[in-house]
Amino acid sequence: MNLAIVVLAAGEGTRMKSGLPKVMHAVAGRPMVRYVLDTAAALEPVELAVVVGYRAEMVRQALGEGLAYVEQAQQLGTGHAVQQAGPVLAGKAGTVLVLYGDTPLIRPETLQDVLRQHEAEDAAVTILTFHPGRPQGYGRIVREAGSGRVLAIVEEDEATPEQKAIGEVNSGILCFRDEWLWPNLARLERSAAGEFYLTDLVAVAREQGEAVAAVPVADPTEVIGVDHRAKLALAEAEMRRRINEAWMLSGVTMIDPSNTYIEAGVEIGADTIVWPNTLLQGRTRIGRECTVGPGTIIRDSTIGDGCRVEMSVLEGATMEDGSDVGPFGRLRKGAHLAKGAHMGNFGEVKNSYLGPGAKMGHFSYLGDATVGAGANIGAGTITCNYDGQRKHRTVIGEGAFIGSDTMLVAPVEIGAGATTGAGSVVTRDVPPGALAYGVPSRLKPSAAAGGSEEE
Ligand code: UD1
Repeated sequence: MNLAIVVLAAGEGTRMKSGLPKVMHAVAGRPMVRYVLDTAAALEPVELAVVVGYRAEMVRQALGEGLAYVEQAQQLGTGHAVQQAGPVLAGKAGTVLVLYGDTPLIRPETLQDVLRQHEAEDAAVTILTFHPGRPQGYGRIVREAGSGRVLAIVEEDEATPEQKAIGEVNSGILCFRDEWLWPNLARLERSAAGEFYLTDLVAVAREQGEAVAAVPVADPTEVIGVDHRAKLALAEAEMRRRINEAWMLSGVTMIDPSNTYIEAGVEIGADTIVWPNTLLQGRTRIGRECTVGPGTIIRDSTIGDGCRVEMSVLEGATMEDGSDVGPFGRLRKGAHLAKGAHMGNFGEVKNSYLGPGAKMGHFSYLGDATVGAGANIGAGTITCNYDGQRKHRTVIGEGAFIGSDTMLVAPVEIGAGATTGAGSVVTRDVPPGALAYGVPSRLKPSAAAGGSEEE
C-alpha cells in the first residue's frame, strides 16, 4: 500500500502528572510510543513522521535517528499537529494514516483492515471507531438516521446532550486521502476551546459529498489511549497478557501468567518453566528446559539450556547450559557461570568467571575473580577485591579447594589443585597443589585442611 504515517506524540500528558512526556512512559519495559512505531513500520510506509513537542529533545534522543521528526512547538490540537507534518508527508503517498503515540496496543492487522476499507470505499476519511464503557471525553460518531452514514465527529465540549448519549466514539486513528487532506487541513478553524480539531475534517468531507468510512475495532483493548496512570496500568496488563500468551503458545510453561512479568525484548526457549513473581527484563535470553523462579528478577542476562534460577536476582550475567543459581543468589554485571557451574544459597558474583562444574554453595562473594573448572568454593569465602581505591583480581586454579571462610586478599592467585584451610586469610599466591592455612596464611607442604564439603 502506498502509505504515509504520522504519529502524534507532542502532548505533555498533564493527567499523567509526570516530568516525563506521556509517550515515554514504559509499557512492558519499553516507551509506549515504541510499540506504535513498530506497528507503523510493519505497514511499510513510504514515510513515517513523528510529531514531537513537549520535551521534544528527550523523545528524539530516546527514539533515535532514522525517523522524520516534526516539531510542534505549541500544542494547538490534533489538526494543528498533523498540519506540522505536511511539509514532510504531503504528496508522498496516496493515503495518510494518523496514529497516536499513546495508543500502544494497536495491531498492524487492525490498521490493515482500516486501510482496506478506506480503499474499498474510496473515502476521503476513514475512522477506526469503538464503543467504550463510558464515552465521556471521546469524539462521538454522529451518523445519519436511517442510512447510518457518518456525518461528523463531535468532540465532548461541542456535543449536544443527544450527541453525548452516543456510545460509538473515535479511537483517534484516522486515515485520509492525501490529496484531499492537506488543502482541507489548511482551512481548519479553531474550535471554541482554541484548538484545531482534526476530527472536524469529517464534517468537511461530508459537506463536500466525499465518502467517509468507519471501521469498528474488533478488540477495544487495542485502542486504549494512555492518558493517566490507571490507563497505563491497563495497557501494561494487556501487553503483559499478550506477551505471556505468545510465549506459552511457543512452548513455555507459566505456572501463573498473571503474576509473571516479561518485558517485550525478552526471549525464552521451549519447555522452560517460569514460576510466579518472576520478572524477565531488558535484553534477556533464556534457553530451553530451564526452570526460572519463583521470586526471581533477571535483567539483561543470557541463560543457556537446562539452567535453574530460583529466588534470585541476575543482572548483566551469563549462565551456560546446566548451571544453576539460588535460592537467594545474586549475579551482577559480568558474572559468568560456565557449564554445570553451581551457585547455591546467598552467594554474590560480580565480574567473575566460574569455570565448568565449579561449585560455590553457601554465603560467598566473588568479585573480579576467575575460578577454574571443578574448583570448590567453601562456605563464606570472600574475595577481598577492593583496597579502598582500586579493584584487584583473584585467580583460582582448576580443582582448587577453598576452605570455609577463606578471605582471598586480591590480587592473589591460588594454583590448580591447591587448598586453603578454613578461616585462612590468603595474602600471597598459593602454588599449585599446595596447602595454605592461618592468618595471614602460610604454606604447608601437604594438603589436609578443614574445608567445607559441598552437600
Ligand atoms: C482525541 C480526538 C477524539 C478521540 C480521542 C481518542 C481530536 C480533536 N479528538 O481527543 O475524537 O475520541 O482522541 O483518544 O482529535 N497531540 C499532539 N498535539 C496536539 C494535541 C494532541 O501531538 O496539539 C497528540 C497527543 O499527544 C495525543 C493525541 O494527539 O497522543 C491525542 O490528543 P488528546 O489531546 O489526548 O486528544 P483527545 O482530547 O483525547
